Amino acid sequence: MLVKRKKSWEIPEGRATPEHMFFSRREIIRTAGAIGGALAAPRFGRAADDPTAALYPAKRNEAYKLDRPVTAEKVNADYNNFYEFGASKHVADAAQALKVRPWSIKIDGLCAKPREIGVDDLVKAFPLEERLYRHRCVEAWSMAIPWTGFPLAALVKAADPKAEAKYVRFETFSDPKMAPGQRQVWYPWPYIEGLRIDEAMNDLAFMVTGAYGKPLLNQFGAPIRLATPWKYGFKSIKSIVRISFVAEEPVSFWQKLQGSEYGFWANVNPQVAHPRWSQATEEEIGTGNRVPTLLYNGYGEEVAGLYKGMDEGRTIWF
Ligand code: MTE
Repeated sequence: MLVKRKKSWEIPEGRATPEHMFFSRREIIRTAGAIGGALAAPRFGRAADDPTAALYPAKRNEAYKLDRPVTAEKVNADYNNFYEFGASKHVADAAQALKVRPWSIKIDGLCAKPREIGVDDLVKAFPLEERLYRHRCVEAWSMAIPWTGFPLAALVKAADPKAEAKYVRFETFSDPKMAPGQRQVWYPWPYIEGLRIDEAMNDLAFMVTGAYGKPLLNQFGAPIRLATPWKYGFKSIKSIVRISFVAEEPVSFWQKLQGSEYGFWANVNPQVAHPRWSQATEEEIGTGNRVPTLLYNGYGEEVAGLYKGMDEGRTIWF
């Protein structure tokens, strides 16, 4: 993410368990107790000590195909944006400080079934699948990634939002002791993102729990993150601890920091330049190739209908 270069916060250039368990409190407490201390995901290797490791690799859903080779895991795992662990792209080592167990996610706000659930129960509550997704950062670089997870729509349905709930708000953990980036007080921590309910219900919106056939490495946003591949990557919030159903459009981390440059919708569009650079092309990380950017990152068929009748300029960017 790039913000105007003046201060240090400026970014350098850059087997499913049946569904009823999703809301079973007893199960959550039992599992949380059994897990005990922290699990540290290795920098690049398989997270063998992850309690959900046996669920991987999940079956690939062939409906989600790519027209480009998958980015090598080693390349992806050493080129990340995770500001909680620094503004560098090389945060893999720093992100080893992320303590991924015990980890629970609070589901609250305007829904009939608010709940706090341990991540292992959440992961087991919905069948996991692998999807090949494009990933396009607002900084004009891209990757192709085999994510594993479950549709966000399944979680939304299980929480049963009320009619007044118009948006879903996501929040990352807040722990400045663990995450040195969060000691940089000029950032509006914690990291927040949001989707309109119909965006959250779209088939493409994916709760990601793994990548490359195993549980998420820390630097990818373990233990659970979002992937919305038709939007710029900053919408894909990492290390989620809270999902809230709300009436008002959430104000995201980047909007708070630099609202004139990072809007709520952030739909990928080669025609609409970022205020300070073109979005017409992107660099495929790992290949050095620069290729044309596609409207909605190539997912127009799936998502263009969400924005019909809305002001094009606003939905594409702000
Ligand atoms: N989520 C949190 N909590 N913190 C972050 O810094 N960076 C965002 C997004 N989610 C970020 C985040 C940005 S700018 C991008 S491009 C993607 O994560 C990067 O995901 P990746 O490291 O898996 O490529």
